[in-house]
Amino acid sequence: MDPEFLQDPYPTFSTLRDEDPIHLSDLGFWVATRYDDCRSVLIDKSFGQGDFVRNIQLFYDDSFDVLAQPAYAWLSRVFVMQDPPQHTRVRDLVASALTHRRVKEMAPRIRQLAARQLQQVAKLEDVNFITDFAYLFPTLVMCDMLGMEEGEFSWELLAELNQAVADTFPVFETRALEPEELALANQQMDFLTEFFDDLFQRRKKAPRDDLTTAMVYAGDGDDALTQEELSTSVIGLFGAGFETTAHMIGNGIFCLGANPEQRLKLQNNIALADAAVEEILRFESSLQATYRTALEPKEVAGQKIGVGERVLTIVAAANRDERHFDNPESFDISPREQKPLTFGGGIHYCVGAALARLEGKIFLEELFTAYPNFLVDIESARLRGAFLFRGYEDLRVTLRA
Ligand code: HEM
Repeated sequence: MDPEFLQDPYPTFSTLRDEDPIHLSDLGFWVATRYDDCRSVLIDKSFGQGDFVRNIQLFYDDSFDVLAQPAYAWLSRVFVMQDPPQHTRVRDLVASALTHRRVKEMAPRIRQLAARQLQQVAKLEDVNFITDFAYLFPTLVMCDMLGMEEGEFSWELLAELNQAVADTFPVFETRALEPEELALANQQMDFLTEFFDDLFQRRKKAPRDDLTTAMVYAGDGDDALTQEELSTSVIGLFGAGFETTAHMIGNGIFCLGANPEQRLKLQNNIALADAAVEEILRFESSLQATYRTALEPKEVAGQKIGVGERVLTIVAAANRDERHFDNPESFDISPREQKPLTFGGGIHYCVGAALARLEGKIFLEELFTAYPNFLVDIESARLRGAFLFRGYEDLRVTLRA
Protein backbone atom coordinates (compact mmCIF):
# COMPACT_ATOMS: atom_id res chain seq x y z
CA MET A 1 0.00 0.00 0.00
CA ASP A 2 3.07 2.28 -0.13
CA PRO A 3 1.89 5.18 -2.36
CA GLU A 4 5.26 5.46 -4.11
CA PHE A 5 5.21 1.75 -4.97
CA LEU A 6 1.58 1.91 -6.13
CA GLN A 7 2.38 4.88 -8.38
CA ASP A 8 5.07 2.94 -10.23
CA PRO A 9 5.55 -0.69 -9.15
CA TYR A 10 7.55 -1.62 -12.27
CA PRO A 11 11.10 -0.82 -11.01
CA THR A 12 10.39 -3.02 -7.95
CA PHE A 13 9.11 -5.80 -10.23
CA SER A 14 12.29 -5.52 -12.29
CA THR A 15 14.52 -5.80 -9.20
CA LEU A 16 12.54 -8.82 -7.99
CA ARG A 17 12.78 -10.55 -11.38
CA ASP A 18 16.55 -10.04 -11.43
CA GLU A 19 17.50 -10.56 -7.80
CA ASP A 20 14.78 -12.45 -5.98
CA PRO A 21 12.47 -14.15 -8.51
CA ILE A 22 10.71 -16.15 -5.82
CA HIS A 23 10.52 -13.71 -2.97
CA LEU A 24 9.16 -14.48 0.50
CA SER A 25 6.90 -11.57 1.42
CA ASP A 26 6.52 -10.28 4.99
CA LEU A 27 2.81 -10.93 4.40
CA GLY A 28 3.53 -14.66 4.53
CA PHE A 29 3.38 -15.77 0.90
CA TRP A 30 5.79 -16.29 -2.00
CA VAL A 31 5.93 -13.77 -4.83
CA ALA A 32 6.76 -14.87 -8.41
CA THR A 33 7.63 -12.20 -10.99
CA ARG A 34 9.28 -13.92 -13.97
CA TYR A 35 7.11 -14.88 -16.94
CA ASP A 36 8.09 -18.56 -17.02
CA ASP A 37 7.65 -19.01 -13.28
CA CYS A 38 4.26 -17.26 -13.16
CA ARG A 39 3.01 -19.22 -16.15
CA SER A 40 4.24 -22.56 -14.83
CA VAL A 41 2.47 -21.96 -11.50
CA LEU A 42 -0.78 -20.90 -13.20
CA ILE A 43 -0.96 -23.88 -15.53
CA ASP A 44 0.24 -26.49 -13.01
CA LYS A 45 -2.64 -28.53 -11.57
CA SER A 46 -0.66 -29.23 -8.43
CA PHE A 47 -1.21 -25.57 -7.61
CA GLY A 48 -4.82 -24.76 -6.80
CA GLN A 49 -6.84 -22.63 -4.45
CA GLY A 50 -6.47 -24.85 -1.38
CA ASP A 51 -7.95 -24.05 2.02
CA PHE A 52 -9.84 -20.77 1.60
CA VAL A 53 -10.31 -20.04 5.31
CA ARG A 54 -6.67 -20.64 6.10
CA ASN A 55 -5.56 -18.50 3.16
CA ILE A 56 -7.57 -15.53 4.39
CA GLN A 57 -6.61 -16.05 8.04
CA LEU A 58 -3.02 -15.58 6.91
CA PHE A 59 -3.81 -11.84 6.55
CA TYR A 60 -5.66 -11.59 9.88
CA ASP A 61 -5.08 -14.27 12.55
CA ASP A 62 -6.23 -17.81 13.31
CA SER A 63 -9.20 -16.65 15.37
CA PHE A 64 -10.65 -14.53 12.55
CA ASP A 65 -14.04 -16.02 11.61
CA VAL A 66 -13.71 -15.75 7.83
CA LEU A 67 -17.02 -17.29 6.78
CA ALA A 68 -19.02 -15.16 9.23
CA GLN A 69 -18.21 -12.21 6.93
CA PRO A 70 -20.74 -12.16 4.04
CA ALA A 71 -18.16 -10.73 1.60
CA TYR A 72 -15.60 -13.48 2.35
CA ALA A 73 -18.33 -16.14 2.47
CA TRP A 74 -19.30 -15.03 -1.05
CA LEU A 75 -15.67 -15.10 -2.21
CA SER A 76 -15.26 -18.65 -0.85
CA ARG A 77 -18.11 -19.76 -3.13
CA VAL A 78 -16.99 -17.99 -6.33
CA PHE A 79 -15.65 -20.63 -8.72
CA VAL A 80 -12.40 -18.72 -9.32
CA MET A 81 -11.58 -19.57 -5.67
CA GLN A 82 -12.45 -23.24 -6.00
CA ASP A 83 -10.65 -26.39 -7.11
CA PRO A 84 -12.02 -29.20 -9.28
CA PRO A 85 -14.49 -30.87 -9.27
CA GLN A 86 -16.64 -27.99 -7.94
CA HIS A 87 -14.74 -25.42 -10.05
CA THR A 88 -15.19 -27.46 -13.24
CA ARG A 89 -18.92 -27.92 -12.76
CA VAL A 90 -19.74 -24.23 -12.27
CA ARG A 91 -17.19 -22.96 -14.79
CA ASP A 92 -18.55 -25.28 -17.48
CA LEU A 93 -22.10 -24.14 -16.84
CA VAL A 94 -21.11 -20.46 -16.86
CA ALA A 95 -18.92 -20.91 -19.96
CA SER A 96 -21.74 -22.71 -21.76
CA ALA A 97 -23.84 -19.59 -21.27
CA LEU A 98 -20.96 -17.33 -22.39
CA THR A 99 -19.93 -18.92 -25.65
CA HIS A 100 -17.91 -17.37 -28.49
CA ARG A 101 -21.13 -17.30 -30.52
CA ARG A 102 -22.86 -15.19 -27.88
CA VAL A 103 -19.88 -12.81 -27.70
CA LYS A 104 -19.69 -12.48 -31.48
CA GLU A 105 -23.38 -11.81 -31.71
CA MET A 106 -22.97 -8.98 -29.26
CA ALA A 107 -20.49 -6.99 -31.41
CA PRO A 108 -23.02 -4.69 -33.16
CA ARG A 109 -24.72 -3.87 -29.86
CA ILE A 110 -21.34 -3.24 -28.15
CA ARG A 111 -20.44 -0.86 -30.98
CA GLN A 112 -23.73 0.96 -30.64
CA LEU A 113 -23.21 1.35 -26.88
CA ALA A 114 -19.61 2.56 -27.32
CA ALA A 115 -20.60 5.12 -29.96
CA ARG A 116 -23.57 6.37 -27.95
CA GLN A 117 -21.68 6.71 -24.66
CA LEU A 118 -18.76 8.49 -26.38
CA GLN A 119 -21.29 10.91 -27.86
CA GLN A 120 -22.66 11.58 -24.37
CA VAL A 121 -19.15 12.24 -23.06
CA ALA A 122 -18.39 14.58 -25.97
CA LYS A 123 -21.29 16.78 -24.83
CA LEU A 124 -19.99 17.11 -21.26
CA GLU A 125 -17.92 20.04 -20.02
CA ASP A 126 -15.71 18.53 -17.38
CA VAL A 127 -15.08 14.85 -18.03
CA ASN A 128 -13.70 12.23 -15.68
CA PHE A 129 -13.29 9.56 -18.32
CA ILE A 130 -13.27 6.79 -15.71
CA THR A 131 -16.72 7.43 -14.27
CA ASP A 132 -18.24 9.09 -17.33
CA PHE A 133 -17.24 6.39 -19.80
CA ALA A 134 -14.84 3.64 -18.70
CA TYR A 135 -17.11 2.25 -15.95
CA LEU A 136 -20.37 2.91 -17.72
CA PHE A 137 -19.58 1.27 -21.07
CA PRO A 138 -18.66 -2.25 -19.83
CA THR A 139 -21.43 -2.04 -17.23
CA LEU A 140 -23.97 -1.47 -19.99
CA VAL A 141 -22.43 -4.36 -21.96
CA MET A 142 -22.75 -6.63 -18.90
CA CYS A 143 -26.33 -5.47 -18.29
CA ASP A 144 -27.13 -6.21 -21.90
CA MET A 145 -25.59 -9.62 -21.59
CA LEU A 146 -27.46 -10.38 -18.39
CA GLY A 147 -30.63 -9.13 -20.04
CA MET A 148 -31.03 -6.16 -17.69
CA GLU A 149 -32.71 -3.88 -20.15
CA GLU A 150 -32.45 -0.13 -20.03
CA GLY A 151 -35.69 1.12 -18.60
CA GLU A 152 -35.95 -1.95 -16.32
CA PHE A 153 -33.29 -0.37 -14.09
CA SER A 154 -32.52 3.30 -13.43
CA TRP A 155 -29.10 4.92 -14.00
CA GLU A 156 -28.97 5.56 -10.26
CA LEU A 157 -29.40 1.85 -9.56
CA LEU A 158 -26.65 0.97 -12.06
CA ALA A 159 -24.35 3.47 -10.36
CA GLU A 160 -25.24 1.87 -7.00
CA LEU A 161 -24.41 -1.59 -8.37
CA ASN A 162 -21.07 -0.29 -9.70
CA GLN A 163 -20.30 1.20 -6.33
CA ALA A 164 -21.33 -1.97 -4.52
CA VAL A 165 -18.91 -4.04 -6.64
CA ALA A 166 -16.12 -1.49 -6.11
CA ASP A 167 -16.76 -1.63 -2.33
CA THR A 168 -16.86 -5.44 -2.27
CA PHE A 169 -13.93 -6.35 -4.51
CA PRO A 170 -11.22 -5.36 -1.97
CA VAL A 171 -11.83 -8.87 -0.53
CA PHE A 172 -9.71 -10.10 -3.46
CA GLU A 173 -6.73 -8.05 -2.18
CA THR A 174 -3.86 -9.92 -0.54
CA ARG A 175 -4.10 -8.09 2.79
CA ALA A 176 -6.31 -7.63 5.86
CA LEU A 177 -9.04 -5.06 5.24
CA GLU A 178 -9.56 -2.19 7.67
CA PRO A 179 -12.63 -2.86 9.90
CA GLU A 180 -14.68 -0.12 8.16
CA GLU A 181 -13.65 -1.44 4.75
CA LEU A 182 -14.77 -4.96 5.67
CA ALA A 183 -18.05 -3.72 7.20
CA LEU A 184 -18.82 -1.84 3.98
CA ALA A 185 -17.89 -4.87 1.82
CA ASN A 186 -20.27 -7.05 3.91
CA GLN A 187 -23.11 -4.57 3.67
CA GLN A 188 -22.71 -4.13 -0.10
CA MET A 189 -22.53 -7.89 -0.62
CA ASP A 190 -25.95 -8.25 1.02
CA PHE A 191 -27.27 -5.57 -1.34
CA LEU A 192 -25.84 -7.32 -4.44
CA THR A 193 -27.16 -10.74 -3.38
CA GLU A 194 -30.65 -9.38 -2.84
CA PHE A 195 -30.60 -7.60 -6.20
CA PHE A 196 -29.48 -10.63 -8.23
CA ASP A 197 -31.71 -13.11 -6.36
CA ASP A 198 -34.62 -10.91 -7.36
CA LEU A 199 -33.44 -10.83 -11.00
CA PHE A 200 -33.30 -14.66 -11.12
CA GLN A 201 -36.78 -14.93 -9.68
CA ARG A 202 -38.05 -12.65 -12.46
CA ARG A 203 -36.30 -14.67 -15.19
CA LYS A 204 -37.59 -17.91 -13.73
CA LYS A 205 -41.13 -16.57 -13.94
CA ALA A 206 -40.64 -14.97 -17.36
CA PRO A 207 -37.69 -16.53 -19.28
CA ARG A 208 -35.94 -14.45 -21.98
CA ASP A 209 -33.10 -14.92 -24.46
CA ASP A 210 -30.38 -13.66 -22.14
CA LEU A 211 -27.44 -14.91 -20.07
CA THR A 212 -29.39 -14.72 -16.80
CA THR A 213 -32.10 -17.02 -18.16
CA ALA A 214 -29.44 -19.26 -19.78
CA MET A 215 -27.75 -19.61 -16.39
CA VAL A 216 -31.02 -20.32 -14.60
CA TYR A 217 -31.55 -23.20 -17.01
CA ALA A 218 -27.87 -24.22 -17.52
CA GLY A 219 -27.34 -27.87 -16.64
CA ASP A 220 -30.29 -30.14 -16.29
CA GLY A 221 -31.95 -31.74 -13.33
CA ASP A 222 -29.48 -32.49 -10.57
CA ASP A 223 -26.69 -30.61 -12.30
CA ALA A 224 -28.44 -27.20 -12.48
CA LEU A 225 -26.88 -24.34 -10.54
CA THR A 226 -28.43 -23.82 -7.10
CA GLN A 227 -29.92 -20.44 -6.23
CA GLU A 228 -26.82 -19.63 -4.17
CA GLU A 229 -24.45 -20.70 -6.96
CA LEU A 230 -26.42 -18.59 -9.42
CA SER A 231 -26.23 -15.35 -7.50
CA THR A 232 -22.62 -15.98 -6.45
CA SER A 233 -21.54 -16.56 -10.05
CA VAL A 234 -23.47 -13.65 -11.50
CA ILE A 235 -22.12 -11.18 -8.94
CA GLY A 236 -18.65 -12.49 -9.85
CA LEU A 237 -19.35 -12.14 -13.58
CA PHE A 238 -20.90 -8.72 -13.17
CA GLY A 239 -17.91 -7.51 -11.15
CA ALA A 240 -15.23 -9.19 -13.26
CA GLY A 241 -17.03 -7.98 -16.36
CA PHE A 242 -16.68 -4.32 -15.64
CA GLU A 243 -14.00 -3.59 -13.01
CA THR A 244 -11.03 -4.98 -14.96
CA THR A 245 -12.45 -3.99 -18.35
CA ALA A 246 -13.13 -0.42 -17.20
CA HIS A 247 -9.52 -0.01 -16.15
CA MET A 248 -8.24 -1.63 -19.36
CA ILE A 249 -10.04 1.22 -21.15
CA GLY A 250 -8.78 3.92 -18.74
CA ASN A 251 -5.22 2.60 -18.76
CA GLY A 252 -5.41 2.33 -22.55
CA ILE A 253 -6.42 5.89 -23.25
CA PHE A 254 -3.79 7.07 -20.74
CA CYS A 255 -1.04 5.05 -22.49
CA LEU A 256 -2.07 6.50 -25.87
CA GLY A 257 -2.07 10.01 -24.40
CA ALA A 258 1.37 9.47 -22.90
CA ASN A 259 2.83 7.97 -26.12
CA PRO A 260 1.92 10.31 -29.01
CA GLU A 261 3.96 8.39 -31.63
CA GLN A 262 2.02 5.17 -30.84
CA ARG A 263 -1.24 7.06 -30.93
CA LEU A 264 -0.34 8.38 -34.38
CA LYS A 265 0.55 4.88 -35.54
CA LEU A 266 -2.93 3.69 -34.56
CA GLN A 267 -4.59 6.74 -36.06
CA ASN A 268 -2.86 6.03 -39.39
CA ASN A 269 -3.76 2.35 -39.29
CA ILE A 270 -6.82 1.45 -37.24
CA ALA A 271 -6.33 -2.21 -38.27
CA LEU A 272 -3.76 -2.20 -35.44
CA ALA A 273 -6.60 -1.91 -32.88
CA ASP A 274 -6.33 -5.61 -31.89
CA ALA A 275 -2.56 -5.35 -31.38
CA ALA A 276 -3.04 -2.08 -29.46
CA VAL A 277 -5.44 -3.80 -27.06
CA GLU A 278 -2.89 -6.60 -26.47
CA GLU A 279 -0.20 -4.01 -25.75
CA ILE A 280 -2.44 -2.12 -23.32
CA LEU A 281 -3.21 -5.41 -21.55
CA ARG A 282 0.51 -6.21 -21.40
CA PHE A 283 1.92 -2.82 -20.49
CA GLU A 284 -0.60 -1.70 -17.85
CA SER A 285 -2.52 -4.79 -16.82
CA SER A 286 -5.68 -3.75 -14.97
CA LEU A 287 -5.38 -6.93 -12.89
CA GLN A 288 -1.83 -7.04 -11.60
CA ALA A 289 -1.69 -10.45 -9.97
CA THR A 290 -3.45 -13.60 -8.96
CA TYR A 291 -2.48 -16.38 -6.57
CA ARG A 292 -2.32 -20.12 -6.08
CA THR A 293 -1.77 -22.52 -3.19
CA ALA A 294 0.56 -25.53 -3.48
CA LEU A 295 -1.53 -28.72 -3.24
CA GLU A 296 1.64 -30.86 -3.39
CA PRO A 297 5.28 -30.08 -2.54
CA LYS A 298 6.66 -28.07 -5.48
CA GLU A 299 9.70 -26.14 -6.58
CA VAL A 300 9.59 -22.71 -8.23
CA ALA A 301 12.76 -20.97 -9.45
CA GLY A 302 14.79 -23.41 -7.35
CA GLN A 303 12.79 -22.70 -4.18
CA LYS A 304 10.88 -25.47 -2.39
CA ILE A 305 7.23 -24.57 -1.85
CA GLY A 306 5.47 -26.63 0.84
CA VAL A 307 1.87 -27.89 0.71
CA GLY A 308 -0.54 -25.11 1.72
CA GLU A 309 1.93 -22.31 0.97
CA ARG A 310 0.71 -19.56 -1.32
CA VAL A 311 2.33 -18.02 -4.37
CA LEU A 312 1.32 -14.59 -5.65
CA THR A 313 1.92 -14.61 -9.40
CA ILE A 314 2.40 -11.00 -10.46
CA VAL A 315 1.26 -11.15 -14.08
CA ALA A 316 2.03 -7.44 -14.53
CA ALA A 317 5.67 -8.19 -13.66
CA ALA A 318 5.72 -11.25 -15.95
CA ASN A 319 4.39 -9.04 -18.76
CA ARG A 320 7.52 -6.89 -18.56
CA ASP A 321 10.01 -9.73 -18.31
CA GLU A 322 12.86 -9.06 -20.76
CA ARG A 323 13.53 -12.81 -20.78
CA HIS A 324 10.25 -13.16 -22.67
CA PHE A 325 9.42 -9.87 -24.43
CA ASP A 326 11.55 -7.55 -26.58
CA ASN A 327 11.72 -3.99 -25.21
CA PRO A 328 9.22 -4.78 -22.46
CA GLU A 329 9.44 -1.35 -20.83
CA SER A 330 8.28 0.43 -24.03
CA PHE A 331 4.65 0.80 -24.97
CA ASP A 332 4.60 -0.28 -28.63
CA ILE A 333 1.42 -1.26 -30.45
CA SER A 334 3.17 -3.15 -33.27
CA PRO A 335 1.97 -6.76 -33.07
CA ARG A 336 4.12 -8.89 -30.73
CA GLU A 337 4.52 -12.62 -31.06
CA GLN A 338 4.30 -13.31 -27.34
CA LYS A 339 0.97 -13.06 -25.55
CA PRO A 340 0.77 -11.32 -22.17
CA LEU A 341 -0.27 -13.27 -19.05
CA THR A 342 -2.98 -10.72 -18.22
CA PHE A 343 -5.85 -13.22 -18.49
CA GLY A 344 -4.05 -15.83 -16.36
CA GLY A 345 -3.61 -19.42 -17.50
CA GLY A 346 -4.62 -23.02 -16.86
CA ILE A 347 -8.04 -24.04 -15.64
CA HIS A 348 -8.92 -20.55 -14.34
CA TYR A 349 -8.04 -18.76 -17.60
CA CYS A 350 -10.39 -15.78 -17.87
CA VAL A 351 -13.77 -16.83 -19.29
CA GLY A 352 -14.40 -13.22 -20.34
CA ALA A 353 -11.14 -12.71 -22.28
CA ALA A 354 -12.79 -12.69 -25.73
CA LEU A 355 -15.43 -10.25 -24.56
CA ALA A 356 -12.89 -7.92 -22.91
CA ARG A 357 -10.70 -7.92 -26.06
CA LEU A 358 -13.72 -7.17 -28.23
CA GLU A 359 -14.81 -4.30 -25.99
CA GLY A 360 -11.28 -2.86 -26.10
CA LYS A 361 -11.07 -3.10 -29.88
CA ILE A 362 -14.50 -1.56 -30.50
CA PHE A 363 -13.76 1.24 -28.03
CA LEU A 364 -10.52 2.16 -29.87
CA GLU A 365 -12.17 1.98 -33.28
CA GLU A 366 -15.06 4.21 -32.25
CA LEU A 367 -12.76 6.65 -30.42
CA PHE A 368 -10.34 7.09 -33.33
CA THR A 369 -13.07 7.25 -35.97
CA ALA A 370 -15.32 9.80 -34.28
CA TYR A 371 -12.88 11.76 -32.06
CA PRO A 372 -9.39 11.51 -33.57
CA ASN A 373 -8.35 14.74 -31.85
CA PHE A 374 -9.11 13.60 -28.31
CA LEU A 375 -6.98 15.14 -25.55
CA VAL A 376 -5.76 13.28 -22.46
CA ASP A 377 -4.54 15.31 -19.50
CA ILE A 378 -1.81 12.94 -18.36
CA GLU A 379 -0.39 15.46 -15.86
CA SER A 380 -3.51 15.60 -13.67
CA ALA A 381 -4.32 11.87 -13.90
CA ARG A 382 -4.73 10.28 -10.46
CA LEU A 383 -4.32 6.54 -9.85
CA ARG A 384 -6.57 4.74 -7.36
CA GLY A 385 -4.77 3.50 -4.24
CA ALA A 386 -5.01 -0.22 -4.95
CA PHE A 387 -2.48 -2.88 -5.87
CA LEU A 388 -4.43 -5.73 -7.38
CA PHE A 389 -6.79 -3.72 -9.59
CA ARG A 390 -4.63 -1.08 -11.27
CA GLY A 391 -6.31 1.93 -12.82
CA TYR A 392 -7.13 5.61 -12.55
CA GLU A 393 -9.76 7.19 -10.36
CA ASP A 394 -9.52 10.55 -12.11
CA LEU A 395 -8.57 10.97 -15.75
CA ARG A 396 -9.48 14.12 -17.65
CA VAL A 397 -10.21 13.58 -21.33
CA THR A 398 -11.67 15.94 -23.94
CA LEU A 399 -13.28 14.32 -26.96
CA ARG A 400 -12.83 16.33 -30.18
CA ALA A 401 -13.83 15.34 -33.71
C1 HEM B 1 -9.39 -6.60 -19.16
C2 HEM B 1 -10.31 -7.32 -18.61
C3 HEM B 1 -10.08 -8.57 -17.81
C4 HEM B 1 -8.94 -9.01 -17.18
C5 HEM B 1 -7.58 -8.33 -17.10
C6 HEM B 1 -9.27 -10.29 -16.57
C7 HEM B 1 -8.36 -11.09 -15.88
C8 HEM B 1 -8.64 -12.35 -15.39
C9 HEM B 1 -7.66 -13.25 -14.81
C10 HEM B 1 -6.16 -12.97 -14.63
C11 HEM B 1 -8.31 -14.37 -14.44
C12 HEM B 1 -7.68 -15.65 -13.84
C13 HEM B 1 -7.66 -15.58 -12.35
C14 HEM B 1 -6.85 -16.72 -11.78
O1 HEM B 1 -6.25 -17.51 -12.50
O2 HEM B 1 -6.79 -16.81 -10.55
C15 HEM B 1 -9.70 -14.19 -14.75
C16 HEM B 1 -10.68 -15.10 -14.47
C17 HEM B 1 -12.01 -14.84 -14.69
N1 HEM B 1 -12.56 -13.79 -15.40
FE1 HEM B 1 -11.56 -12.24 -16.21
N2 HEM B 1 -10.58 -10.58 -16.80
C18 HEM B 1 -11.12 -9.56 -17.57
C19 HEM B 1 -12.40 -9.47 -18.06
C20 HEM B 1 -13.41 -10.34 -17.74
C21 HEM B 1 -14.76 -10.27 -18.23
C22 HEM B 1 -15.28 -9.23 -19.22
C23 HEM B 1 -15.46 -11.28 -17.62
C24 HEM B 1 -16.89 -11.68 -17.74
C25 HEM B 1 -17.69 -11.48 -18.71
C26 HEM B 1 -14.53 -12.01 -16.79
C27 HEM B 1 -14.84 -13.10 -16.00
C28 HEM B 1 -13.93 -13.92 -15.39
C29 HEM B 1 -14.28 -15.11 -14.63
C30 HEM B 1 -15.69 -15.62 -14.37
C31 HEM B 1 -13.08 -15.71 -14.21
C32 HEM B 1 -12.90 -16.99 -13.39
C33 HEM B 1 -12.55 -18.14 -14.28
C34 HEM B 1 -12.25 -19.43 -13.53
O3 HEM B 1 -11.93 -19.42 -12.34
O4 HEM B 1 -12.35 -20.49 -14.14
N3 HEM B 1 -13.29 -11.42 -16.90
N4 HEM B 1 -9.87 -12.95 -15.35
